Formats: sequence, C-alpha cells, structure tokens
Amino acid sequence: MTKITLIAGARPNFMKIAPIIQAIDKANTYGRKIEYRLVHTGQHYDQKMSHTFFEELGIPEPHAYLGAGGGTQAEQTAAIMLAFEKDLLAHSSDLVLVVGDVNSTMACAITAKKLNTRVAHVEAGIRSFDLTMPEEINRMVTDSISDLFFTTSDFANQNLRRSGVADNQIHFVGNVMIDTLLANEQRFRQPDFWTKLDLKHGDYIIMTLHRPANVDDVSNLESILTAISESAGDTQIIFPVHPRTRKTLEGVRPELLTRLFLIEPLGYLEFNYLVKHAAAVITDSGGITEETTVMGVPCITLRQNTERPETCEQGTNELVGTDPENIKAALRKLLSGQWKKGSIPPLWDGKAAERIVQVLMDLDRKL
Ligand code: UD1
Repeated sequence: MTKITLIAGARPNFMKIAPIIQAIDKANTYGRKIEYRLVHTGQHYDQKMSHTFFEELGIPEPHAYLGAGGGTQAEQTAAIMLAFEKDLLAHSSDLVLVVGDVNSTMACAITAKKLNTRVAHVEAGIRSFDLTMPEEINRMVTDSISDLFFTTSDFANQNLRRSGVADNQIHFVGNVMIDTLLANEQRFRQPDFWTKLDLKHGDYIIMTLHRPANVDDVSNLESILTAISESAGDTQIIFPVHPRTRKTLEGVRPELLTRLFLIEPLGYLEFNYLVKHAAAVITDSGGITEETTVMGVPCITLRQNTERPETCEQGTNELVGTDPENIKAALRKLLSGQWKKGSIPPLWDGKAAERIVQVLMDLDRKL
C-alpha cells in the first residue's frame, strides 16, 4: 500500500486536488490501495475562499488543518513549512503530492524533500519566465526538487527537459482543473443576482483581478478600471472581489466603481456559470484562462506574459497587458464581435486525474 500526502492550500488548489481524490477513491474500490492524507495548509481560510469549494466539489474534510494563512511571502512560506514539518514527521508518507504554484505548493515540497520524502508536482513545468511573480519562483523551486512531474502541455514537457529532468520522470497527463470543470458543468448554478441585474446569456462581462502587480497599488488599479469603464459601453461588468483587491479598492475613486457590480468571491458553481454564459472574461488569473479556453469564452488577460501559452495559441485568450490603450482596443474588438475562436489543447479531456492515479499505482508496484 502506498501512503500519499496530498497538499491543498489556496483557492486554485482545491479544484485541482478534488479529481485526484475522486480518482484515488475509485481505484481503491477496484482493489488497488492508495492511502491518502489530505493536508490543508490554511493559506486561504475564509468560507468564500476555501470551505465553499470543499462543500461544492465534495472534497473530504482534511486530515490536518495547519492554519498558516496571511502574512508576507516569507512569513506565510515559513509558517507552512514549520507546521507541515511537524505533520509529516508525525505521519510519514511515501510521497507528498503538491498541485499548482502557490506558496503552499513550494513550502510543502521543500519540507517533504528535506525529510527525504519523494515529491510529485501536478501542473509541473509551466513557466512565465517572469520572476517578479511569486508563483514563478514557486514553480521553479518546486520543479527543481520534485521526483515526479505531471504536466498539462508540451510546453511544460519541453521546459522540464531543458532544465535536465529525465523523460521517465515526466508524465504528460492533461489538466486536472479541466477534469473538475467537465465533471461539474451540468451542476453550474445561476447566482441569485442574475434576475435582479436582468443578465442575459452573452451580454455581460465577468472580471477577476488579484495579481499584486495590478491590485496592490491604487493608481495601477485606477488606470485599469478607467480604461475598462471608458470602453465597455453598456455592457455590465460583474466583479467578484478577491480579499487582496478589496483592500486597495477602498482607496479607488468612487466614480470608477459605478460601472461595476461588486460582489464577494463566488463559489465554483456560480462563478463558472457566469463564465460559461459571459460575453467575455477580463482577468489576471492563469487558471481561468484554461477554463475559458475549454468553454470557448473570449478572455482578455491583463498580464504581459503567461505560463500557459496554449491558452493564447490554441485557446480564446489574448495577453493584453495593462496599457490603457491596449485594454480599450481589446474591448472594442470584443464588442464588435471580432474575437478569435479557439480549440481545446490535447488531453484536456476530463481524465487527467485517472492518468495520475495510474502512474501512482504503477509506482506502488515498484516500491
Ligand atoms: C494566492 C496565490 C495565487 C493565486 C491566488 C488565488 C501565492 C503566492 N499566491 O494569492 O497564485 O492565484 O491565491 O486566490 O500563493 N486572504 C483573506 N482570506 C482568505 C485568503 C486570503 O482575507 O481566505 C487575504 C490574506 O490574508 C492576504 C491576502 O488575502 O492579506 C492575500 O492572500 P495570499 O494567500 O497571500 O495570496 P493571494 O493574493 O490570495
């Protein structure tokens, strides 16, 4: 029997870990035995940033909750490492599996490796080559010490090979985030405010902003919001506000907010209902660009680079950056119906987690 510790810490981890747990449970009903322990670091801790996702996606109660949320980059990383080291020493494991690129991913990978425990990284190998993003540092560090690499794209495979990872460590399995999307598409739920705002399919925009470079500084955020409000015409903009962004919005000129419908962060099912039926998404997230690619929804990304180039080359995503003129041009193109159509990247088919668990079971035979 293989013992695996699964790490989940922040919102974008939860939809990645859910299908892996389901695939393990399924394999176990067929007689294969993987014993797992789910550790929640507590990086995200609000009902709306964490618990809702556990409830909606049927993720079981974590075996351990480390409560290491908040603080600076170093404080948060250190707090997760201190707490996870104790947990792993008390509950030894054959393998620690981390997903994505958040601080919890890197902190737990380092901790595990220093306790001579093997590390598997899901969503390995993607790179923005932009070291001003904390996530890029997390990706590089995690990949530099991982033993098993589960990848979403050939771009990721190439980056890993280029950095010296052996072919037999790389498993191109597809995209676990898309597993969750496809498994839940029929359950997407119209939010209550749909009727109040008289929303119609294809006639509103949904926006998310949370990158430090865009939202930590009032003038950067005002510049983005000015460009959007000047060029969105009558299109309603629904803006679920991330906790990081909420703090800065308090200092933004109120007239820039009148065009926006500001709401608390949404759960998975309501958020993706809104994405699926939107005219477009404006975002600075990486994961959302994968979901819009699969749902075929135009996506305007307010970043200069992406670690997911396939969402632009094959999908519906375009890197627009934050120059106001470029934002306005992108919105003009969108609202005049000129946006490109996309296609779905290979293996983004809802079966990535099953492929991961197959590799883990083969590993079990070798242990
Ligand atoms: C983190 C991830 C980012 C991911 C994002 C999704 C890192 C480096 N960044 O960024 O990759 O895209 O999550 O949301 O790991 N806060 C709350 N309630 C919560 C969670 C956070 O109020 O439930 C507050 C924190 O106390 C902090 C701020 O929001 O003040 C930012 O949280 P943090 O986890 O540091 O980073 P995110 O910006 O959420």
